[in-house]
Amino acid sequence: MPRVAPVHVCSACGHETTRWAGQCPGCGEWNTLVEESRALPSARRGSARGRSAAVSPVPLGAVAAEGHRRLSTGVGELDTVLGGGLVPGALVLIGGAPGIGKSTLTTMALANLEAAGRRTLYVSAEESAAQIRLRAERLAGDAALKIPVIAETALETVCATLERERPEVCVIDSVQTLHSAELTGAPGSVGQVRDVAGEVMRVAKQLGIAVLLVGHVTKDGALAGPRVLEHLVDCVLQFEGERERTYRTVRAVKNRFGSTNEVAVFEMRDDGLVEVLDASARFVAEATRAPGSVVLCSMEGSRPLLVEVQALVSRSELVAPRRVVSGLDRNRVALVLAVLGRHAGIGLGASDVFVNVVGGVRVEEPGVDLAVALAVASAARGVPLIGGGAGAGGVDGGGRAGGAGGVPLACFGELGLTGELRTVAHPDRRLGEAAKFGLGSVVEPTSCPTLAAALASAFGRGRAAVPASSEPRPTPHAGLQTTGRFDSV
Ligand code: TYD
Ligand code: MG
Repeated sequence: MPRVAPVHVCSACGHETTRWAGQCPGCGEWNTLVEESRALPSARRGSARGRSAAVSPVPLGAVAAEGHRRLSTGVGELDTVLGGGLVPGALVLIGGAPGIGKSTLTTMALANLEAAGRRTLYVSAEESAAQIRLRAERLAGDAALKIPVIAETALETVCATLERERPEVCVIDSVQTLHSAELTGAPGSVGQVRDVAGEVMRVAKQLGIAVLLVGHVTKDGALAGPRVLEHLVDCVLQFEGERERTYRTVRAVKNRFGSTNEVAVFEMRDDGLVEVLDASARFVAEATRAPGSVVLCSMEGSRPLLVEVQALVSRSELVAPRRVVSGLDRNRVALVLAVLGRHAGIGLGASDVFVNVVGGVRVEEPGVDLAVALAVASAARGVPLIGGGAGAGGVDGGGRAGGAGGVPLACFGELGLTGELRTVAHPDRRLGEAAKFGLGSVVEPTSCPTLAAALASAFGRGRAAVPASSEPRPTPHAGLQTTGRFDSV
């Protein structure tokens, strides 16, 4: 009988301790330590080390290079995020909130692979085979109905099936619901998830099976379970967006076989996820041109993307005014608000500020700072920002006239703490994308070295031009029925 040692494992970071504590010593989270039993190894490591034979190191140049043959999933955007397709034997973890479309995307990928003559297997540990069939029937075409499926939660059975069926690509939906009979602990507990992923990896690497592991995320958006899973797998894809919204993005947060900069944009339709190839065009067409709206020329990996950033400023009834942010980092917005107050005279200490990246897109690059600043300034002043035409800065590629109903104002740039605008990566590609969609002049760091210059340039070309240095004026605007003093310093 192996001795059983109790161990307490943090469900957030995987830290292990022998004694329970309220706060994890590893990551500082509260109430995350869960007790697990683990069999002690019978042989001591020291003696095993003594018996092992040494191996000779080889210079890297002498190692035979493996040419990675990639399998195309048939979903172009997914292939791009993966770095050109699935690599045989690779373990890919796809994380996302419930209902975001993980099962839909993996089913679509398997359907395309099956149609291309690849051997596939769909392991569902969450839904019955009948439920998977219902989903497959919704998808365009009938290729999804040819995917071989098993509805199984026992790890041993799944591994045995993999060894017998030897698929080239396998989906495990989800890694948290598989469990091993050899381990105590509920499915989804840290030890179970780690062992399940480890065992699946062993079989996958041995047989060269590309495995897509579906994983749940916690309420704050992190991949549930231990972070050790992220170390284990070759690629971590994060499925983001809001369930209620149509646009969803998939980005790589780790990729051993490609860049982590790529992002895919999808739209959930009645017949499955559809790739949004003209995302910029859609976001620009939907931009409101109302006060508080501005178009950000962002870079999503190697691809430029135009997205609308909106802000609303209203007088707060609370002691601590609200800062509600969606689609970007709260701390970035706090920084921009502080710089606006200090260097542009737009103090919002008594106002609630809401900032949103439209369409459920998440922007995680510093170039968003200027868009937030201009959107908030425009909302606070009740003045719309209209782009196009020959302005003070940037390129003039579109040549369309601004004014009422004109094109939205486009911008990008990182805000420094001293009120300066800093350049960000790939300015040419951002400008090129803006010009492509008729957004003539762009407010950006080369032409406007400071926030004050950017505000002057942005407001200067609107109809109701407001000098950046003047005391903000109350403006009649349907969304801002206030006395107008809320935005003064
Ligand atoms: P699903 O892929 O099951 O999400 P997850 O596996 O991430 O939990 O489905 C997500 C949602 O998408 C679900 O609420 C139903 C909807 N949906 C569509 O709108 N169209 C479709 O073709 C499919 C298959 C699902
Ligand atoms: Mg699912």
